[in-house]
Amino acid sequence: MHRALVLALEPLAERDHKLSLLLDLGAMLAQEVDLDALLALIGSRVATALRAERATVFLVDGSTGELRSRVADLPELPELRLPPGTGLAGFVADTGEVVNVRDTTADPRYFSGVDRQTGFHTRTILAAPVRDHQRATRAVLEVLNKVDGAFSQEDEAFLQALAGQVAQALERTTLRPSPDSARGVNVRGVFNHIVGASGPMKRVYELVSRAAARDVTVLLGGETGTGKGLIARAIHANGARRDAPFITVDCTTLPEALVESELFGHERGAYTGADRRVSGKVELAHGGTLFLDEVAELSLRTQARLLRFLQDRVYERVGGRATLRADARVLAATHRDLASQVEKGHFREDLYYRLRVVELRLPSLRERGGAEVEGLARHFLEVFSRRFDRPGMSLGASALAALRAHRWPGNVRELEHAVERAVVLCPGDVIAPEHLGLGEAVLREASSMEAPAVALPLGLTLEEASRRYVQATLGALGGNRSQAARSLGIGRNTLRRRG
Ligand SMILES: Nc1ncnc2c1ncn2[C@@H]1O[C@H](COP(=O)(O)OP(=O)(O)OP(=O)(O)O)[C@@H](O)[C@H]1O
Ligand SMILES: [Mg+2]
Repeated sequence: MHRALVLALEPLAERDHKLSLLLDLGAMLAQEVDLDALLALIGSRVATALRAERATVFLVDGSTGELRSRVADLPELPELRLPPGTGLAGFVADTGEVVNVRDTTADPRYFSGVDRQTGFHTRTILAAPVRDHQRATRAVLEVLNKVDGAFSQEDEAFLQALAGQVAQALERTTLRPSPDSARGVNVRGVFNHIVGASGPMKRVYELVSRAAARDVTVLLGGETGTGKGLIARAIHANGARRDAPFITVDCTTLPEALVESELFGHERGAYTGADRRVSGKVELAHGGTLFLDEVAELSLRTQARLLRFLQDRVYERVGGRATLRADARVLAATHRDLASQVEKGHFREDLYYRLRVVELRLPSLRERGGAEVEGLARHFLEVFSRRFDRPGMSLGASALAALRAHRWPGNVRELEHAVERAVVLCPGDVIAPEHLGLGEAVLREASSMEAPAVALPLGLTLEEASRRYVQATLGALGGNRSQAARSLGIGRNTLRRRG
């Protein structure tokens, strides 16, 4: 009776292992994590699930055919690189077959060079190809040294199932293959979801890694649409607080009267309509990160309260007496030149110095160069052709030339919208310049002579006419709400009500 119960439970436990692997990967993929961290996590989960001493993901480099892997627990060994076809991993990459070697000393395909580099002693190996939905081999998943004996046939099937999950996970990162390579992957950026390998972006990655590790306050600058929000998340996701909340306060959408309550919370009865105590975002961010987006828009009064919080990490709820404490790391962003805001008296100097412990300016797309524009465009093409289920689309030569020539006032966001629009509007498979709508997206001045016009029929109510005008402005700016609000001379909140 007792035995039967145990047997019945065993498959469940195994399924749980698979399930937990999936859940963890899902959670990591939802964040901008370091790819090394993702691969290390996959390795440790697979090793546990298969009761092996170690598991490694070898990525097949799409351009050279080399096998590349990181050894998570050996920081002094930055990367393992094997020439194409080397060892059992190379055999699996070449043939797409699963191999199960019960005694490495007896298998001529076994390559002992890796053990020499890592100091590990490999007795048994089970390796399976990681193939995408087109059956191309992108990586090799290898487990070493079954804890109790040799890997079984069941283990082989299990590892193949796991390789399938790893393939799906990889397809959701920037580690996707270049469109023309029959196998392998093309590593484009250090951080999952963040694309770009230009010199200016490499400097950004370096600063992100250093700032992430240190828990310091970071001030992010840069033109609209350069990725300030994205990089703020990356700093959080690569630091010690990654498992705690990341709380954003959008300082532009908040009506002045509500900012303090939004930030610090309020007590019951603090003002009319406050019928219960509400926690502020500072409190919600306890243990994690508080991201103050568009921080230059805060009033001087709120700046003073924020300064106190930054100095001592203490605050009071609106209408409350008790002094509360919250341990939140602060990140802030603005598209404005804060130093000149300080000069004009719009921003407190002391707060400015508190915020800019580390200053990180995101380069404009123009500074990153044409190759980066092209790389980002290809990335967004993959994203949107998958989202809108339009496989096989490509950017024509003249579209690429137009993308490279454009000035990108709206930076990466503008590029993202241009490609999205093209994927939706292009009738065939090859995108041409006219599908990108670049002319319309550059609405520099609402009053400029070249600005596109919008025809409004007479007979509309003023409200309807204004709604349509707002919609047209938004459309012409590729959906960028901050730019539209700026161009219309209204706040983003008003824009939301009017749109
Ligand atoms: N390097 C990048 N790789 C991939 N996507 C990016 C990159 N940079 C920005 N994006 C995407 O571009 C869009 C704009 O980025 P984000 O919102 O972070 O910019 P921002 O600087 O905060 O803009 P704003 O000043 O208007 O608030 C987002 O959809 C983001 O995911
Ligand atoms: Mg932003």
